[in-house]
Amino acid sequence: MSRLDTSGDDYRARRAAMLAKLAELDAEHARAVAGGGPKYVERHRARGGLLARERIELLVDPDSAFLELSPLAGWGTEFPVGASVVTGIGVVEGVECVIVANDPTVRGGSTNPWTLRKTLRAADIALANRLPLINLVESGGADLPTQKEIFIPGGRVFRNLTRLSAAGIPTVALVFGSSTAGGAYVPGLSDHVVMVRERAKVFLGGPPLVKMATGEEAEEEALGGAEMHARVSGLADHLADDEHDALRIGRRIVRNLNHRRAGPAPGPVREPRHDADELLGIVPEDLRIPFDPREVIVRIVDGGEFDEFKPLYGTSLVTGWARLHGHPVGILANARGVLFSEESQKAAQFIQLANQARTPLVFLQNTTGYMVGTDYERGGIVKHGSMMINAVANSTVPHLTVVMGASYGAGNYGMCGRAYDPRFLFTWPSAKSAVMGPAQLAGVLSIVGRAAARARGQDYDEAGDAAMREMVERQIEAESLPFFLSGRLYDDGVIDPRDTRTVLGLCLSAVGNAPVPEPAGFGVFRM
Ligand code: COA
Repeated sequence: MSRLDTSGDDYRARRAAMLAKLAELDAEHARAVAGGGPKYVERHRARGGLLARERIELLVDPDSAFLELSPLAGWGTEFPVGASVVTGIGVVEGVECVIVANDPTVRGGSTNPWTLRKTLRAADIALANRLPLINLVESGGADLPTQKEIFIPGGRVFRNLTRLSAAGIPTVALVFGSSTAGGAYVPGLSDHVVMVRERAKVFLGGPPLVKMATGEEAEEEALGGAEMHARVSGLADHLADDEHDALRIGRRIVRNLNHRRAGPAPGPVREPRHDADELLGIVPEDLRIPFDPREVIVRIVDGGEFDEFKPLYGTSLVTGWARLHGHPVGILANARGVLFSEESQKAAQFIQLANQARTPLVFLQNTTGYMVGTDYERGGIVKHGSMMINAVANSTVPHLTVVMGASYGAGNYGMCGRAYDPRFLFTWPSAKSAVMGPAQLAGVLSIVGRAAARARGQDYDEAGDAAMREMVERQIEAESLPFFLSGRLYDDGVIDPRDTRTVLGLCLSAVGNAPVPEPAGFGVFRM
């Protein structure tokens, strides 16, 4: 049941604020879609190339959903938003696959530090959920000016490919253009390789490097052209006439993978009873004002039906069972921000129950962390918070996390933040995440500074303190916003709250490709 007053001023204000943030989000996504900008897009087209997103669209099943991941990677850095690669989960011949497509319009599709993180994240998703990985390759390799950040850790891209294969997860490389130096190991280590005639160039060293190394005057096509690899070296399994042909062959390869889902099939799907549009008006702009997460839950779960567990105990945390797109889930959602001992114990018990039943968990975050203060310390808040963190860390059922509002302090950990490896983590535009709130953090620095000055026997510079506080508050606020955090790959994307059900449904479906994990062995619970 919903108590949301959709005609009230609060609702309207919250909705307006959310819509304003979504307009900003659209603008940032548009920057990612624009890739390297008109000059490079036109040049690429003039050469007969399809754009990264066009390639994906032709690869996936018509009208199927593509769950794009990390579209804001690189936001707030010196590199273009999107990090010169498009990643996501798409359905090819009925099989959910992770797709990684270089964007050749951005610095030749070369890999910068954020491209690397995004690519590694995509491979982790493929491995955890047993999804075939398809690389659409056209890349200048390492971004040379930032090679120090990528060369050594970047080796993992290639290691991941062969480890996926070893785990029985198929890997496919469709090579559209340059795939040189380290990049040559993408086809080298993939199970299936397609190269486009006259366009794919795969060599360890291009003609200039060969000249430098051995003095040989090599010609590109003979050195690493698609024709040569298909007829002579055997690196290419298929020679495609053009890009469309390569994508067709790619689809055929996936059809023949004989891929089977190993997880349980979902049950019947029922739509929620309330309109998803109302999700826009739930989170207050001022995150200090609490909101009832049940209003979110009834708008995202099947039939709006939520079977609450321990509703009268530890009421700052809502726990319960539901179905989402036919998949059973356990949900943990913060109600009033702060987590006390009762909430922590309730969470630990609930997580154990979900593990007994092998039910995936959804975490809906809006937390300012665990309660501080003498009474709470005496009551064992450290022990109880640790219990919850122990349960989350060692739980083996799939976890999905959505940061709706605040995500501060160890609440971020207990509610399955990024470091706790949820299978997927998405953020609403209303979210904020940091070690603590900006004002609190600046205040702590001020108290510490004052005490240090006193210890040195010095007067405290009050004007300097005020300026410091203002500066720190501004910095922490900026660093706790969703675009900034998404730019650093601390989530898998910032989503429109109205899409939450769809996104979680797609994630649960992806998760179902892997078998139900082994039961958890929890660490020692400090009682
Ligand atoms: N690092 C940094 N920037 C790179 C880059 C790289 N590896 N590869 C390309 N770029 C930049 C280019 O400098 C150029 O920038 P500009 O337009 O500001 O001058 C832009 O990306 C486009 O490159 P361009 O060469 O014009 O594109 P292209 O489509 O004609 O050719 C490549 C693409 C990838 C074939 C070609 O750029 C190339 O051979 N790059 C180097 C490949 C290499 O040896 N990499 C070593 C990897 S370890």
